[in-house]
Amino acid sequence: MRGNGTPWLSFPVLLWRLTLWDTSHGISAMTNFADRTIWTGDNLDILRGLNSASVDLIYLDPPFNSNRNYAAPVGSAAAGAAFKDTWTLSDLDVAWMGLIADEQPAMYQVLQTAGLTHGKGMQSYLCMMAVRLLEMRRVLKDTGSVYLHCDPTAGHYLKLLMDSIYGQASFRNEIVWKRTAGRSDAKGFGRVHDTILFYCKTDNFTWNTQWLPHSEEYVNRAYRHRDERGPWQPDQLTASGLRSG
Ligand SMILES: C[S@@+](CC[C@H](N)C(=O)[O-])C[C@H]1O[C@@H](n2cnc3c(N)ncnc32)[C@H](O)[C@@H]1O
Repeated sequence: MRGNGTPWLSFPVLLWRLTLWDTSHGISAMTNFADRTIWTGDNLDILRGLNSASVDLIYLDPPFNSNRNYAAPVGSAAAGAAFKDTWTLSDLDVAWMGLIADEQPAMYQVLQTAGLTHGKGMQSYLCMMAVRLLEMRRVLKDTGSVYLHCDPTAGHYLKLLMDSIYGQASFRNEIVWKRTAGRSDAKGFGRVHDTILFYCKTDNFTWNTQWLPHSEEYVNRAYRHRDERGPWQPDQLTASGLRSG
C-alpha cells in the first residue's frame, strides 16, 4: 500500500531469488521509500526492495510461534484479517537451511539446536524469522536500533538468533513488558510478561533519552524526606563504576 499518495520511489524487487542477505542495492544509505509509508504483504518481499543502511529504527511484533491461528472477530474493523502461527518444516525451509549452513554457520547451529530441543515446528518458525532478521540488519543504518518483541515460547531461541546476526556485544537490553497483573494458572508462576530484545548495529547508535515527570502521588509516597534541596529518598548506590554496580 502506498502512504499519503506519495509517489513510489524506485522499488525494484518484488520477486527474489533464494539468496540470503541481498546486497544488490549496495551500501547507499539513500532512503528509497516515502516517510510514513504502510505496506501490506510479506515483509521479506518489501525488505528486499529497500536500500541498505537506510532505516533508523525497527520495531517488530512478529508471530510468536504460539501454535494458534488468529482471525479478527466478524463485524470488527479488522474482520477478514487472519494470520497463521503454526509452523511445519517445509521444502522452502529446507532450502533456506542449506543456504544458512553455507553462509551463516553460527545461525545454522542455533536453528539445528532448536530443532533438536524444541522440534521441527520451532526450527521452521525460526528459519522464517532468520531470513527476515538478516535482511533487517542489512537495511538498518549504522546508527540504527532494532527492538524485537518476543514471548516466552521462542524468546530465548530468538536471542541466540539475534546474537548470531548482530554479535553478542551488540545486545543492549532485554526490556520486560508486564502485560497483566495476575493470572490464575493452576500450577507454577503466572506468565504475565513479554520481552523486547534491543540490539544496535554499531556502538555509534542514536539514543534519545526519554524523560517523564513523576506523578505527585509517587513523589509523595517514595520521597518522604525533605531538605533545602527538595524531596529525597535513601537508596543503594548501584551506578556503573561502583562495586557490583
Ligand atoms: C503478533 S501479531 C502483531 C499484531 C500487531 N502488532 C497488533 O498489535 O495488532 C503478528 C503479525 O505479523 C503478521 N505477519 C506474519 N507473517 C508476516 C510476514 N511474513 N510479513 C509481514 N507480516 C507478517 C501477522 O499477520 C500478524 O498481524
